[in-house]
Amino acid sequence: MTGKFYIETYGCQMNSYDSQAIEGILEGLGMTPVLKPEAADLIIFNTCSVRDAAEQRVIGRINQLDGLRRGRKGRLLMGVAGCMSQRMGEELIAVTKRRLDFVVGPDQYNNLPEILARIEAEERDLCYRDFDQEVAYFAKPKDTPPGGTHFVAVMRGCDKFCTYCIVPFTRGRERSRDRRSIVEEVERLAARGAFEVMLLGQAVSSYCDDDLDFAGLLGEVSAVEGIESVRFMTSYPTDMDIGFFRAVASLPKVGTGIHLPFQSGSDKILKAMNRRYTIGEYERILENGRREVPGLLFSTDIIVGFPGETEEDFQATLAVVERQAFISAYMFKYSPREGTLSARWEDDIPTAVKEERLGRLIALQERMSRRQLDRCLGQEMEILLDEPSKKLETQLRGRTRSNVRVIIDKDPDLKIGSKVMVRVTEIKGTSLLAVRVQGD
Ligand code: SAH
Ligand code: SF4
Ligand code: F3S
Repeated sequence: MTGKFYIETYGCQMNSYDSQAIEGILEGLGMTPVLKPEAADLIIFNTCSVRDAAEQRVIGRINQLDGLRRGRKGRLLMGVAGCMSQRMGEELIAVTKRRLDFVVGPDQYNNLPEILARIEAEERDLCYRDFDQEVAYFAKPKDTPPGGTHFVAVMRGCDKFCTYCIVPFTRGRERSRDRRSIVEEVERLAARGAFEVMLLGQAVSSYCDDDLDFAGLLGEVSAVEGIESVRFMTSYPTDMDIGFFRAVASLPKVGTGIHLPFQSGSDKILKAMNRRYTIGEYERILENGRREVPGLLFSTDIIVGFPGETEEDFQATLAVVERQAFISAYMFKYSPREGTLSARWEDDIPTAVKEERLGRLIALQERMSRRQLDRCLGQEMEILLDEPSKKLETQLRGRTRSNVRVIIDKDPDLKIGSKVMVRVTEIKGTSLLAVRVQGD
């Protein structure tokens, strides 16, 4: 098969990783990637189902890009990959008025060559979405630029079944990749110049391969030559015991910016969400982490307007944000997802109330983020330079071990991928501006 393809990616890092994998599979067929849908013979939407708004955006975009078919000489194929394919299957083809040639779920990308061959043979409305416990596809390493953060999926699926969440239905049962294939993938990336990897999973802290737990995996990955920094997301609170934090403290390449969603500050809501901790337990985990790991910064996810959330429950969420001063947070309005348990309960918080609560929460979190950044002013810290500045030719971008963005002026002897000591001089948005500390 020849031709040009364009992939549009929505949702989480797992989808970005998978889009790289799809790219590799299509290139294996002799196809070439392009950066604009207008230039493509095949458009793939790699989609997300986590909230309704994400799905509506994709449906709108499919209708819009269908317009490219008008007046076109050759055929333009369109297909959907990712979580919407898994959730909706044939229904998605119907909803989009058969504008789609195929839908393919996350465990079926290795069948893309077969799907495209069947379409060439004039078959229509193809839907591949069986789960496959053994699925093993890897993202092809990015060619350019070398460096930056390379994702490595170390787990698939999720068994936590938070009552609001569609992911266990779209990604299937939790399974860990075997350690050897992970380390080999990281070695391949390092051989091509990668110096930072981000290990991905829906609850990556639950990783388990025989006797190897997640702390052990962090040790194996950080031993790979050429890798300077190992990050990971997302962690699940109850996996984070003291032993885990001690392991992080003892592995200097492992990042100390940890994303640990708490979702709600109310025990009643946490229980209804099937999160398996109380807010007291969660806050003790943060305390343990900060005690064991110097410089640790936590970020989090929060949902407002879950069914039954009173103003008092919401106040409890605000209080956690105030007490814990997260460096950053992703904050969402509850969105009922068909097929999940909570979708059977009345979505009883009016949209206006959800929006008002979200507004108050965001305002508070912005103050807390700013307070954390203010603390860095005047401090000296080591950063890993990870990319050129997107805006200014004269600047370089780096990150602290705790994952805060830092921008410094270029220097002829400073190379992307190297570490440098800097002093923070200013705050700009969510980034720190810094100057190099001479004599390091
Ligand atoms: N596996 C990760 C992230 C899953 S989705 C974890 O467990 O933390 C990312 C975030 O989206 C979740 O943490 C949650 O805050 C939010 N989310 C998931 N389902 C949602 C829903 N139905 N409505 C609103 N937000 C949701
Ligand atoms: Fe969804 Fe919960 Fe699994 Fe995260 S841990 S993916 S929120 S079910
Ligand atoms: Fe979205 Fe699927 Fe990721 S629902 S958040 S793309 S696992």
